[in-house]
Amino acid sequence: MRFLFLMDPMRTVATAKDTTFAFMLAAAARGHECFHAQPLDLDVNQGVLEVRAAPLEVFRRDTQSGGIDDGWKIGDVARGKVADYDVVMIRKDPPFDATYAYMTQLLETVREHTLIVNDPQGLRDANEKLYTLHFSKWMPRTLVTASPKRVREFVEEIGGRAVIKPLDGMAGAGVFLLNADDRNFNAIVEATIGEYGTRFGMVQEFLPAARVGDKRILLIDGEPLGAILRVPAENEARANLHTGGTAAAVPITAEERAMIADLAPRLKADGLYFVGLDVIGGKLTEVNVTSPTGIQQMMRFDGVDYAGRVVEWIEKRAKKRPR
Ligand SMILES: Nc1ncnc2c1ncn2[C@@H]1O[C@H](COP(=O)(O)OP(=O)(O)O)[C@@H](O)[C@H]1O
Ligand SMILES: [Mg+2]
Repeated sequence: MRFLFLMDPMRTVATAKDTTFAFMLAAAARGHECFHAQPLDLDVNQGVLEVRAAPLEVFRRDTQSGGIDDGWKIGDVARGKVADYDVVMIRKDPPFDATYAYMTQLLETVREHTLIVNDPQGLRDANEKLYTLHFSKWMPRTLVTASPKRVREFVEEIGGRAVIKPLDGMAGAGVFLLNADDRNFNAIVEATIGEYGTRFGMVQEFLPAARVGDKRILLIDGEPLGAILRVPAENEARANLHTGGTAAAVPITAEERAMIADLAPRLKADGLYFVGLDVIGGKLTEVNVTSPTGIQQMMRFDGVDYAGRVVEWIEKRAKKRPR
């Protein structure tokens, strides 16, 4: 099969931990061809969606000194129809901006011919923070608001400790602790939602379990693959690997499995096949859909070829499409 990866430039990929790179290795290992393009490499030519993509070879070898040697080789860009690919993997990191939204609209024109992971309509509709609101029974107490006054009221109502986050952030960007008695309180609220409340933000009960860690559970088609725990650095509130969090092995609890079973029908209906749940102390805080990560750490801890499982699922699902 031909896999088209729509993503950031290859030079930004940290091969030793990147989930997209793991998918490429797994696809190549199973005999598939990989191609690379960025969202802006899409064209619509007389109504036909085309892409200027480059073939990509990826490898991972053991070195003589016992290390691992990762690499990739990109070929010449060629123009072709997107419908001639069997699979499009959308792995572009946020921000979710106008280009991203247009990309999802362009891709919808080939949805009947090509399996798109994740589904472009699902990606456009699901904000990673707001999507959790469909499952509020699994969430910590949460207020979405653009009103600085409502933020203050809510934080006092829930006992004075909260976090505030922008709706379009990732990798911990813009996530602040919010304490009712902090003299920085108003300034933090202003930084997030604007002095006069010009942007929506999310205010959430502070979960003390965040010190233990933020669990990332990866799902394929509503089924759990595996999990890792991201443990925050001592001097940091955020557990994201990007902010110095360290990954540790962790099981998925029975309660978390019940939560996943509850989310699964909606995720499937929205075509959100490969997603990463963020779970703190058993509570759902985020549903990552654009380019969830963590699979390489998970594969190392568990010794399971999770990326291979994802590719295997893709093979089965792609076959069902009319060509
Ligand atoms: N309700 C919360 N209580 C305590 N810490 C939180 C809470 N929500 C988020 N955090 C911390 O902030 C980090 C980032 O939050 P998250 O909602 O996952 O946004 P992002 O998209 O930036 O990953 C988490 O890894 C966690 O350490
Ligand atoms: Mg997160």
